[in-house]
Amino acid sequence: MSALEKINRENIPSHIAIIMDGNGRWAKKAGALRVFGHQQGVESVRAAVEGSVELGVKHLTLYAFSTENWNRPKLEVMALMKLLVNSITKEAPKLHKQNIRITAIGHLDQLPDDARKGLEKGIELTKDNTGLNLQLALSYSGKWDIAQAAKRLAERVAKGELSPEDINEDTFANHLSTAGQPDPELMIRTSGELRISNFLLWQLAYSELYITDKLWPEFGKEDFFEAIYSYQNRERRFGKTSEQVK
Ligand code: FPP
Repeated sequence: MSALEKINRENIPSHIAIIMDGNGRWAKKAGALRVFGHQQGVESVRAAVEGSVELGVKHLTLYAFSTENWNRPKLEVMALMKLLVNSITKEAPKLHKQNIRITAIGHLDQLPDDARKGLEKGIELTKDNTGLNLQLALSYSGKWDIAQAAKRLAERVAKGELSPEDINEDTFANHLSTAGQPDPELMIRTSGELRISNFLLWQLAYSELYITDKLWPEFGKEDFFEAIYSYQNRERRFGKTSEQVK
């Protein structure tokens, strides 16, 4: 039976987050330059997007570029930015036709002008769509997200719009870049690394983690469905006992 056939359509995660890791290693194995791995990774992005649309996932957050990725060799950073603008420019009209909304989270001011402008165009074109929210984490770090939420809350307290007593988990979450979205029920990471790597630190508090040894360019739609099937067979206890959640 295929993973898709095994999936329970009544229990689809509303938010899936992915750390797309292993492009470089995949390219090395193929005897190619790292950028070839990133190019091939775009095919896996397509598979995850298609799989999400087929199952009715509401939010798909992809860790496309971390704050730490700026420390990579300049040529690789430039190639990744170019790939990003080209992919968004090429795919945005097709995504738009499928009612997909492109959004982005992260320190977007740090992106080179052409990358930011290309991204903004895609966001603008698709902003009224009501289907999948394809959320790209770009120049993103979980610590940055928490710090910027704290800063905005402090500013609002200083202006007298909020009092310190108003700050709780809900108000805090509403100042994160993912405000208004459910936390990811499932986080997928490829290439076998057992780390969160400064991704959605607050939002992943109770996410189920699915880690596969497959490298990102090898991760196809069937693998995506397999991850969802695995999620559906976990017992989510949220600190309670097994008996309490049965
Ligand atoms: C991690 O592999 C991957 C990245 C840092 C970039 C991910 C980008 C894409 C898949 C392409 C563009 C995305 C979109 C949304 C169009 P790595 O380079 O860290 O691999 P390694 O750990 O094997 O070196």
